[in-house]
This record gives sequence, structure tokens and C-alpha cells, in this order.
Amino acid sequence: MDNILMFKQYFDFWRKKNTGKIKEAEVERLINEVDRKKLPRHIAIIMDGNGRWALRRGMSRSYGHRAGVESLRDIVKVCSELKVKILTVYAFSTENWKRPREEVDILMDLLVEYFNREIEELNKNRVRVNPIGRLHELPPATLEALKMGAERTRGNDGLILNVAFNYGGRQEIVDTVRAVVADVLSGKLSAADIEERAISERLYTAGQPDPDLLIRPAGDFRISNFLLWQLAYTEFWISPVMWPDFRRIDLINAILEFQRRERRFGGLK
Ligand code: FPP
Repeated sequence: MDNILMFKQYFDFWRKKNTGKIKEAEVERLINEVDRKKLPRHIAIIMDGNGRWALRRGMSRSYGHRAGVESLRDIVKVCSELKVKILTVYAFSTENWKRPREEVDILMDLLVEYFNREIEELNKNRVRVNPIGRLHELPPATLEALKMGAERTRGNDGLILNVAFNYGGRQEIVDTVRAVVADVLSGKLSAADIEERAISERLYTAGQPDPDLLIRPAGDFRISNFLLWQLAYTEFWISPVMWPDFRRIDLINAILEFQRRERRFGGLK
């Protein structure tokens, strides 16, 4: 009996000591399964679940947002390593202003902190920051941080990181329609030439391919006003994992699932 107990204790000790290593080995194994020729060019992520994650731990929602920044760091790094071309992250929506003032302030501050802390790492990984959204409505410090992030990474040729901040899909379409109308009124575009391309070329994501893969952690099946035009033929991958727990292994699993899907774009195989 004593021997069994000793064995169990030793096994527990061994498991605790090696869990990290086993996870690393699993990540390595899965990374090797990724078909580098069929990578999604553009991945979009709704970084959801920060609040629930924190409340379950008896902590404030802000604690969850802070933890969410760590996931963002990890995912930006792995996307860079895999040579994904574009990553769009939904960090603050036009509807998020409805949250309590304190939470909004924390999100504004976190963005500033993120860029101050990460700018060197972003440059090291050759990431180019591209903020998207109604940026002119943001508080000066937040706007400054976004501009600094874009400015200081402008020359990089790696991953394009679209940071959607004060972003709304409907608002983007409204802004695009306004740009189209302005160009028609100035004679730059004729009304007869308004086709899909005229719209795509005036979106915040002009010049970029639409997302191939949309990832939504935290289990909800909603678009939440994200990239409404661009997601027309995007593959959705919903995960029960909360964003603060979302790590490279989850991203790799999403990519592997994406690579198993058959995309028909409304046609036949
Ligand atoms: C949604 O979770 C998340 C947000 C509204 C903010 C996302 C922000 C981050 C991940 C970190 C910030 C990153 C930068 C660069 C500022 P939720 O609060 O709606 O979660 P819930 O659905 O569980 O309530």
C-alpha cells in the first residue's frame, strides 16, 4: 500500500514537473503538422471572454483585460513566426463606450501601455502596426499611442497587425459610402463604376485580402459588428477557451482546422 502511495506521489511530482515540457512538445508536434503552403493569409480575432475569465477568479474585469494583453503578445509572436501576412484584432468596438467609465478608461490606458511596452518587440519581429476604426474620436493619449505604434513600425515588412480600436463594421461601411459619394461628387468616380471594388478600395482594410479565418474565443456565435463586409466568405472558428487563456496551441489548432475545411466561395468543388 505504502509503495502504491509513494508511486502516486512520485507520479504527481513527475507530472507537475513535466507538464510544461509535454505542452511544449505538443505545440511543436502540431506546428509541424501545419501546411506552410496553405496558411491563412489573413486571420481576424474577436478577443472575447476577458470579463468572464476574471469574474470566475473573483477578480475585476480589468484584471481580465490585462491578462488578455499577454495572449495578444503570444498570438502576435506566433503569427509572425508562421509568416501569416495579416492579423486583425478587435480591441475596442464602437459599442464598448457603453461600458462603465472605469472599464473604458482601463482599456484606453492598456492600449497606451501595450505600445509603450511592446514597440521594441514589435520591431524585432518586423510587425507593422495599422490601427483601424474611428480613430479621430479617441482620447488624445490613446490616439497618440496608436499613431506612435504605426509610425515607429512603418518600415517593417513582416506581419501587418490591424488594431481595430473604436471600430465598428457598420460605421466602417458608412465611412466608406461617404468616401464613395465624395469621389462621385468630385468627379473622381462615376456612379456607374460603383461596383464591389469601389467599396473594397475605400474600406479601412483597403489593399488587404479579406480574412480567411475568423477566430472567436469564449464560445459565442456572433459577429459583433466586426468586419461586416470583409467576412463574406471567411471560415469561422469558435473556441470555448477564454481569450486570457488563449495561447499559440489554440491558434495552431484553429489553423489546422482551417486547413481541413473545403472552401467553395459559393461555387461547386
Ligand atoms: C471583450 O471581452 C474584450 C474587449 C472588449 C477588450 C479586448 C482587449 C484586450 C484583449 C486587451 C487590450 C489590448 C489592447 C492592445 C488594448 P469582454 O470584456 O466582453 O469579455 P466578456 O464577454 O467575458 O464580458
